[in-house]
Amino acid sequence: MKLPYHHLVLLAMTMSFATQAARADDLSIWKLPEAPIPANNPQSQAKIALGKQLAFDTRLSKNDALSCASCHVSSTGGGGLTPRAFGQVGELGRWAPTWDNSAYSTSLFWDGRAASLEQQTGALPGHMGPISSPAEMAVHVQEVVNRLNAIPGYRKEFQEAFGSPATPENLAQAIAAFERTLVATESPFQKYVRGDVQALSPAAKRGFAIFTGKGLCTICHTAPLMTDNQFHNIGVPQVGPLHEDLGRYEVTHKDDDKGKFKTPTLYNSGALVFYMHDGAFSTLRQVVDHYNAGGNSKAPNQDRLLMPLHLTEDEKSDLVAFLQSLTDERLNQVSRPELP
Ligand code: HEC
Ligand code: HEC
Repeated sequence: MKLPYHHLVLLAMTMSFATQAARADDLSIWKLPEAPIPANNPQSQAKIALGKQLAFDTRLSKNDALSCASCHVSSTGGGGLTPRAFGQVGELGRWAPTWDNSAYSTSLFWDGRAASLEQQTGALPGHMGPISSPAEMAVHVQEVVNRLNAIPGYRKEFQEAFGSPATPENLAQAIAAFERTLVATESPFQKYVRGDVQALSPAAKRGFAIFTGKGLCTICHTAPLMTDNQFHNIGVPQVGPLHEDLGRYEVTHKDDDKGKFKTPTLYNSGALVFYMHDGAFSTLRQVVDHYNAGGNSKAPNQDRLLMPLHLTEDEKSDLVAFLQSLTDERLNQVSRPELP
């Protein structure tokens, strides 16, 4: 018997989904692991403290205009304050996603074009990123390094952390080491997973059941990271200055990847003020409404895994309550350190 494609998809989905739902009873699959630390950039207190200063220092940009933290704002979940980021040349095409929990990402940026947090900074030779991008901080990395080495406090701190003056490599390493500390292990949901049954409200518990059940969210936001670290086209309306954003296609040039974006981890998304690659939504409720409608029937190439969910108003509120339980308040309170 030959089944039409969408029947096969449904069948495969129901099967994988049934397994996930059964496994969801076992809360331990959701425990966030320790953030992976690359062997060539071990963590140290000196390095993390230095990286934090660098991430908040506008002297890493042309005309002292921007620091990393100007676009990744702690009080709004580590994401941008405007639906699309503003760099040195005006509005960019994409929203600044949160850098919280990016330690768990196997590829960075909405299209996954950077392979590590070190690469992502744009300080390493051959890798474009916020420091070097003419649209963002717009500096020559060597110029930044010279600048840092001329500041006695930084000279001392680089010496302590790396045993050498600042270089493009250790500048990237320090910032990445700081970012690897931004993990949501103290969110109410993580406390619940560790056995504190009081940590979640009844609404959030019902929402978790919808997340892993009727809402079909765990097809892509999988345990334990709330992301499969893959790319999907979920039919987000394209808004902002770009007429079209081909997403993952820009990296792979495979037709199949047109309009696919990275599945974000949902930790701390309750504190974000925009959602999706182009900041198309501004509340979790709008996000849930998008999924409830089965995505966007007008979007070409939308993932076939999206379909209308028929959630009731109460179920939608419960789902939002669950998403809010993923916020680790410590990450929303990272403040600007004193700079040398
Ligand atoms: C002008 C605003 C702006 C500045 C400054 C900025 N970023 Fe970003 N950041 C963005 C935008 C926009 C994206 C998404 C770009 C894309 O996907 O193409 C992003 C993406 C990221 C990501 C990827 C997150 C993920 O899950 O894929 C990380 C990590 C990050 N930035 C860290 C940094 C660091 C570190 C700095 C400083 C060296 C920095 N950013 C400076 C706007 C900014
Ligand atoms: C087919 C895979 C898939 C399914 C199913 C899915 N998501 Fe997503 N989710 C994604 C992708 C991919 C994005 C980013 C899309 C973009 O930016 O264009 C995303 C983005 C989000 C965001 C925005 C986060 C941010 O940082 O901007 C939230 C919140 C979210 N999803 C929650 C959910 C919930 C709740 C469900 C279930 C009702 C769900 N997702 C089902 C793949 C999926």
